[in-house]
Amino acid sequence: MTIDMRVMIGTKTIIDDQVSKIIINLVNTNPKAVLGLATGSTPAGVYAALVNDHITHRTDYHLIKTINLDEYANLDTDHPNSYRTYMNNHLFDHINIRLEHTHFPDSTPFVASFLEQHPVNLQLLGIGNNGHIGFNEPGTPFESSVRLVSLSDDTLSQNARYFETPDQMPKKAYTLGISDILKVHQIILIATGPHKARIIKQMIEGPITPQLPASVLRRHPDVTVYLDHDAAALLDQSLDIYTKGGVALDIIA
Ligand code: GLP
Repeated sequence: MTIDMRVMIGTKTIIDDQVSKIIINLVNTNPKAVLGLATGSTPAGVYAALVNDHITHRTDYHLIKTINLDEYANLDTDHPNSYRTYMNNHLFDHINIRLEHTHFPDSTPFVASFLEQHPVNLQLLGIGNNGHIGFNEPGTPFESSVRLVSLSDDTLSQNARYFETPDQMPKKAYTLGISDILKVHQIILIATGPHKARIIKQMIEGPITPQLPASVLRRHPDVTVYLDHDAAALLDQSLDIYTKGGVALDIIA
């Protein structure tokens, strides 16, 4: 039986705990690992668990390198809404990582050569309500690599709430491409909340199509999707893909 995707369903607390343990184990076994990181509300609990672990067990990040998935264009890095500020606040300022080892896609040639020299061991992903990964919006070719993109109307309205007024939100961003994401060794995608249920159902049960960028992850050999019960609510667990192969589904709590 071929498995396209592993799907773990549990509470948000269990998800944050399990995903943080996978990252901690990687950092302990491969102290020079390269982590691919994501922003948004979804991974915040994982970062909090990594910070707690660092305080308790002194997990050592001083040789770890990171590359984030995306960053707004034309926004100062110290702007409160930049993804650099998010990462510093949620993780980097609280662990012993060297800030010069933490990278964001703010210039395409730099990131392309960084990725070539530093293959990513583990990529953490969230998913946009429209199925985007990073800022690879619906319609993005699967062959795309790191580049500057215009944000879709969907994404502009979804993310405008983070800015004081909607017109402050940048209309463009740098993002790793889909081909960059598919090159990483291991992928973990997390989705939580009822607003993600519809897109998660399409991603797992629908066709693999550029119209839903995250659906391409089913072609990656090592991808695990962690869902809370709300995000998993629309999955039809009687389908052949769950009972006869394709998707290995596990209830973790
Ligand atoms: C943002 C980011 C994505 C993120 C997604 C989901 O626009 N570009 O990398 O995964 O939207 O965000 P959230 O976790 O807040 O739902």
